[in-house]
Amino acid sequence: MELKQNFDLTNYNTFGVQSKAELCSIISSIEDIQNVIEQNKEIKKEIYPLGSGSNILLTQDVDKWVLINQLKGIIVLKENEKEVSLEVMSGEDWHEFVLHTLDQGYYGLENLSLIPGLVGTSPIQNIGAYGVEVKDFIDSVEFIYLESGKVEELDNRYIHFGYRDSIFKNELKGKIFITKVRLTLYKEPKVNVKYRALIDELEKRSIKDPSPKDISDAVIFVRQSKLPDPSKIGNSGSFFKNPIVDFSVLKTLKERFENVPNYPAEEGKVKLAAGWLIEKGGWKGFRDGNVGVHVKQALVLVNYGNGKGVEILQLSNKIISDIETKFGVSLEREVNII
Ligand code: EPU
Repeated sequence: MELKQNFDLTNYNTFGVQSKAELCSIISSIEDIQNVIEQNKEIKKEIYPLGSGSNILLTQDVDKWVLINQLKGIIVLKENEKEVSLEVMSGEDWHEFVLHTLDQGYYGLENLSLIPGLVGTSPIQNIGAYGVEVKDFIDSVEFIYLESGKVEELDNRYIHFGYRDSIFKNELKGKIFITKVRLTLYKEPKVNVKYRALIDELEKRSIKDPSPKDISDAVIFVRQSKLPDPSKIGNSGSFFKNPIVDFSVLKTLKERFENVPNYPAEEGKVKLAAGWLIEKGGWKGFRDGNVGVHVKQALVLVNYGNGKGVEILQLSNKIISDIETKFGVSLEREVNII
């Protein structure tokens, strides 16, 4: 395992912003991680496991030991006629993994097609799209403590999954490197077509009884039509979370607007669409030099080329305070700021 210094991270974050890692190593085996932990007893840097860089905003050079995850491998742990349990190494690309499961006749993840990131980062923010969240398929997650090198496997019920949330964003944040994810998928299709955009797309295609592959194809199409491709325009998907607010906030908004998109949340509360709020605030398509708000999806901030991380951060701060003033709603960032 090589120890690289002043490693350029421009191609390792989907915003495509410039930043250097003081130290960096490519991780291709569990032993590599154990080596890093051992050597770090002398080097004493903060260790930072990087996924595919699709949910971070780098606002400065990274004074840490960045680990690039290339742990690969998928094995079947057990299967019967109805289900299959898989163990997947954390460095596998999420979307390629979803396509692989569909090819094998393993179903359930089709709605989560084309989400950027790695299998190992999927539980951290409990990725979700079109009515499905990854938490419904994860059995357990295995990880290594960065301080002690101890290996632990955590069962789903102890991961405290929530909307774009888990123990890995809270108690375990910065303390671990996720190595393996174990999931159970169906071998008989059980499709989920409750989400409006998906229903509309399948109707357009005249598909009445969709297969998981039909759903995956429709999801890929809808995502590609609304979300910018990071290889062309730098972005990290939804920059903010959809805010969960008291019913009274929705009531006030309904006095001002005819159709306010909203979704059920915990008791007495409701989830609003941050993209809708940002659009109503007049920000959709806004551009300030090299950075801006995506033209087709206001929840996505973009880097048009030479934008700096701080410029994107400043833009997000302006949006947060404007939405607070205009609608009394506090937006929270979904991406990790470094
Ligand atoms: N909307 C607007 N203007 C916009 C964007 C959205 O009015 O610019 C309205 C839409 O018309 C719709 C509502 O807001 O009524 C919700 O929009 P959409 O269906 O596009 O989904 P979203 O809430 O903006 C969430 C996830 C996405 C996921 C989609 C589809 C979050 C933070 N984002 O977006 O996830 O793909 O639903 O399920 O929950 C991501 O996390 O990076 C991501 C892309």
